[in-house]
Amino acid sequence: PIIAKEGVERTYIMVKPDGVQRGLIGEIISRFERKGFALKGLKLFQCPTDLAEEHYVELKEKPFFPKLVKYIVSGPVVCMAWEGPGVVASARKLIGSTNPLTAEPGTIRGDLAIAVGRNVVHGSDSPDNGEREIALWFKEGELVEWEQNNAPWLL
Ligand code: PPS
Repeated sequence: PIIAKEGVERTYIMVKPDGVQRGLIGEIISRFERKGFALKGLKLFQCPTDLAEEHYVELKEKPFFPKLVKYIVSGPVVCMAWEGPGVVASARKLIGSTNPLTAEPGTIRGDLAIAVGRNVVHGSDSPDNGEREIALWFKEGELVEWEQNNAPWLL
């Protein structure tokens, strides 16, 4: 179901159009997968303008808002729901800071990007926004309930 179980933390991660065009989908997914988080939803998707505007609604008054929306709808994105303890903050760490030039090497942006307007990946900034964004980007039936059979090795 779209609504998370009590005590379960989820984040919405998205490979942005530049990441898709540059062939970085596998590289980006791999970082979350190797970290040990659980993938609960995944799709390639052409985002319509109204959804991009709703996703970034908190930034509506920012001068870069129109450019940001145009960027997000400029090509397909890869939408993901990842689950695990502390996944929201940990994913943000794996992604690195907003400006790729100041993002630490070893982070996705620090390793793979140079421009804030082309920073290859999005991650929710709070558990509440994680839930809000998962509900926005995924329909009922698109998230999969499953247990990884190697769970004892991850915990
Ligand atoms: S702010 O101004 O502090 O609220 O912005 P910030 O939290 O750093 O970033 C919010 C999202 O806006 C994107 N962003 C930009 N896009 C295009 N151009 C410019 N100048 C720009 N500045 C910030 C930034 O990548 C964040 O998007 P997500 O998808 O959440 O990473």
